[in-house]
Amino acid sequence: MSPDNIDLLCKDLSTSPRADVGIVLVAGATGYIGGRLVSELLARGYRVRVMVRAASPEHRDRWPEAEVVVADALDADSLGAALEGVHTAYYLIHSLLYGLDKFENVDIRAATNFRKAAEEKKVQRIIYLGGLGDTRTELSSHLGSRIRVAQELMAGAVPATILRAAIIIGSGSASYEMIYHLVRKLPVFLIPRWARTKCQPISVRDVIKYLVGTLELPETAGKTFDIGGPDILTYADILKVFSKVLGKRKLFLPSPIESVRFYSYLTGLLTPVPAPINWCLMEGVKNDVICQHAEIREYLAFPLVSCEVALLRAISREEQDKVHTRWSDSYPLDCELAIKLRELSEELDFTCSYSILSNKDAAALFRSVGRIGGKEGWFNSNFLWRLRGLLDRLLLGVGTSRGRRSASTLRVNDVLDFWRVEEIEYNRKLLLRAEMKLPGRAWLEFRIDPEQERKTRLTVNAYYQARGLWGRIYWYILVPFHHFIFDDLIKQIEKRS
Ligand SMILES: NC(=O)c1ccc[n+]([C@@H]2O[C@H](COP(=O)([O-])OP(=O)(O)OC[C@H]3O[C@@H](n4cnc5c(N)ncnc54)[C@H](OP(=O)(O)O)[C@@H]3O)[C@@H](O)[C@H]2O)c1
Repeated sequence: MSPDNIDLLCKDLSTSPRADVGIVLVAGATGYIGGRLVSELLARGYRVRVMVRAASPEHRDRWPEAEVVVADALDADSLGAALEGVHTAYYLIHSLLYGLDKFENVDIRAATNFRKAAEEKKVQRIIYLGGLGDTRTELSSHLGSRIRVAQELMAGAVPATILRAAIIIGSGSASYEMIYHLVRKLPVFLIPRWARTKCQPISVRDVIKYLVGTLELPETAGKTFDIGGPDILTYADILKVFSKVLGKRKLFLPSPIESVRFYSYLTGLLTPVPAPINWCLMEGVKNDVICQHAEIREYLAFPLVSCEVALLRAISREEQDKVHTRWSDSYPLDCELAIKLRELSEELDFTCSYSILSNKDAAALFRSVGRIGGKEGWFNSNFLWRLRGLLDRLLLGVGTSRGRRSASTLRVNDVLDFWRVEEIEYNRKLLLRAEMKLPGRAWLEFRIDPEQERKTRLTVNAYYQARGLWGRIYWYILVPFHHFIFDDLIKQIEKRS
C-alpha cells in the first residue's frame, strides 16, 4: 500500500512554467483528471492549492507539497477561503455521480457559486475542462450541462479558458474500462444505429498537456478550444480498434434493439462501471462529438496520441499496476460525503467479530489484508461475495465488478469492489465502508494487534446500522453466513500472508 508511481506527461511540452503565476487552485483534485493534473503542476514548480470536499489525512500524504483546502462548490461561503490569493483556478468539478435527475442542477449551481467567488477574490483566470458537443443540435442532458457550465464560467469577469473534450482514453477512465470489459467478454457485438455516431477520442496524456499548456500561454485566456485526438471514429470503430489491440476476433452484427437505456443496463452488468453512470455517459451517444475547429493546435502543436496507442498505453499501465487515478475515485451515487464510522452519532445496531492468533508479523498480515478484493477475490467464499455483487448490479448498485485501482496498493477513498477504503493505519488497521445497496450502513474492519509471546492477533469486525425493520431482518438473514464468510476470510488472509 505504497504511494503511486507517477510518469510525468508534460516533459515534452513546448511551453515553460510561468514564474508570474502565483497560487494555482485545482478544484476537483480528487477526480480522474484533477488527480493527474496536480502532480504535473507540482512537478513544474507551481504553488498548488488543492480543493477537496472533505478533509482527510490521505490528501496530505498524497500531495505533501501542495496546500490542501476544504470547500464545497455548493456551499458558496466555503469558496472564499479556497480562492483567496489564487492566480489561476482549474475548474474540474463534475457531479455526474449524483445521477441524471440531479446532476444538471447541481453542476450549474456549483459553477455559479465558483464564478462569483472567483470574481470577488479577483482571480486572474479560470481554466475549465468540459464536454464537446455541437450546440446547434439537441444535446443530451450530460453534454448540455457541460456546455451550460462553460457558458456560466465565461459569463463572469474572470477570463476563462474552456477546453472541450469527447471521450478521454486512459487507464482508469470510465470509457476505457467500459470498452475494455465489453471487448474482453463479448464474442459478438450487436451494433445499434447510434453506434455509427462519430466521436473524436483523446488520450488522457494529451488532455493534461492541454490543461498545463493553456496555463502557460496567457493568450489563450478568454477563448474556447475543442481538443481531440488524431482519429475521428464511430463507437463501433472504437470497439474494432480495441479488439485489434487485444488480438481478439469479434463478430459485429446490426442490432434490432436501439434503446440506449437497455445497452447502458447491459454494460452495467458486464463492466465495472455501474448502469446509472453508463446511462449518463451513453445518453449522449446520438450526438456527434468531434472538434469543430482545431485552433488550439496553433498554440500547442505537440504530437497527438492515436486512439490505438492510447488504448495500448492504458492496458500497459493496468498490467504494470500503475493506474494513477480512476473514475471511481470520486464519490458515488447516494454516497456524496458518506458518513464515516467515527462520525456516526447513534449507537451501532449490530457488530460481529472473528479473530485468530498468528505467528506472522504485523507487516506480513497487513500486506495480505491489503490484497483482498479485485482480481484476487475474497478467497474461499468468493462465490458468495460475487453473488452479492451480482444481486447489487441487478438492483442498479455498484456491484463487485468495480474491482480496485491497483492490485497491490490501497489509499484512502479507493474503491475495493463494493466497499470504499475509509481509513488505513499501516500494519494496524484497514476500515472499509459499504457502498452496495443495503437497508442500512455497514463497515468492515481488519485489525492487527500485537499479543504476548511475539504473536499477532488478526481480527475482522463487521459493523452495521440498520434502517427500519427490513434493515434488521437483513442482518438476521445474513447471520448464518457470517461465520462461514468471515472466519474463513481471516484464515485465508493469514495463510496467504
Ligand atoms: N473523464 C472523462 O472521460 C471526461 C471526458 C470529457 C470531459 N471531462 C470533463 O473533465 C472534467 C473533470 O472530469 P473528471 O472525469 O475528472 O470528473 P470526476 O472524476 O467525476 O471528478 C469530479 C471532481 O469534482 C469534485 N466535486 C464534485 N462536486 C463538488 C462540489 N460540490 N464541490 C467541490 N468539488 C466537487 C469531486 O470531488 P469528490 O471526490 O469530493 O466527489 C471530484 O474531485 C469534467 O468537467 C468533465 O466534464 C471528463
